[in-house]
Amino acid sequence: MEQSVPIPIILDCDPGHDDAVAILLAVASPKIDLLAVTTCFGNCSIDDATRNALRILTLAGVTDVPVARGASDPLVASLELGNYVHGKSGLDGPTMPEPEFLPSKLSAVELIHQTLMDSPRPITMVVTGPMTNLAQLAMSHPEDLEKIAEVIFMGGSTERGNHTPSAEFNTYADPEALQEIIDSGLPIRMVGLNLTHQALAIPEVVERMTNMDHDIGKTCAEWMGFFGSSYRSVWSFDSPPVHDPCTVAALIDPSLIEWTRTFLAVELEGKWTRGETVTDIHNRLEHEPNADVAITLDAERYWDLVLEAIDSLGKARV
Ligand code: BDR
Ligand code: CA
Repeated sequence: MEQSVPIPIILDCDPGHDDAVAILLAVASPKIDLLAVTTCFGNCSIDDATRNALRILTLAGVTDVPVARGASDPLVASLELGNYVHGKSGLDGPTMPEPEFLPSKLSAVELIHQTLMDSPRPITMVVTGPMTNLAQLAMSHPEDLEKIAEVIFMGGSTERGNHTPSAEFNTYADPEALQEIIDSGLPIRMVGLNLTHQALAIPEVVERMTNMDHDIGKTCAEWMGFFGSSYRSVWSFDSPPVHDPCTVAALIDPSLIEWTRTFLAVELEGKWTRGETVTDIHNRLEHEPNADVAITLDAERYWDLVLEAIDSLGKARV
């Protein structure tokens, strides 16, 4: 069978338990060429997010993917962090290995710039934290945008929020940055809460992780344990939605998600609704559509994909 050429990506993230699974999925899949990991404030401080990215890659046995430290603060908004979900370190739960390599000397923006310039092919930007780094790149190096194939991001929702009643955490954390990227005209795909709440780590999923015969599977199970307890106490969920890997999974197997093309904006003014994404699925505003928005997930096949990837990575490590 013909082997397809892997999709070159940069994963810009704020790890975070679900970002961690997204990193493992990107590392494990032969369909993805992970060129760099860049970090942003979000689930925790930028220092913790960067250290967590290094620890996750160390756990995966990958020390040759560059990791660069990104924004410590949003463009305009005041800083709010997600430690109330992800714990003090941003990745609380199991004991993790100490990083076996150092972050890049370049900042996230510099590393994204250099990677785009060096690549013979356009690169997909996968963003699973606030959009700050990419917005800073768009402002400082606008000519780089033509080297970006598309932006696929976890954030927003066609429905309600989580950080506030209206706004999802990533889009609330830096709405001006998201609007900058929407206005840039880049092809953009939104994977919001309406989709990721279909990606629940139900007990059978966690059990499959626990039963894996290696540290990576067991670590994932423990991450789900911590993340699940936050979701139970903050939002009364029975099982946690594992948001961020949905972006990477969509690239690996496009048949997992159904999308709708629509107008997308983010609320920058609302007293109660700042950071809320506006998706005009019924075209009431009659604006030109500017984004594809994820609607339906095949959850069973999503979990098969994620779990098989984690298992293959773990087996290669033992
Ligand atoms: C998003 O916010 C963070 O808690 C998760 O990592 C995810 O990216 C969900 O709202
Ligand atoms: Ca995240």
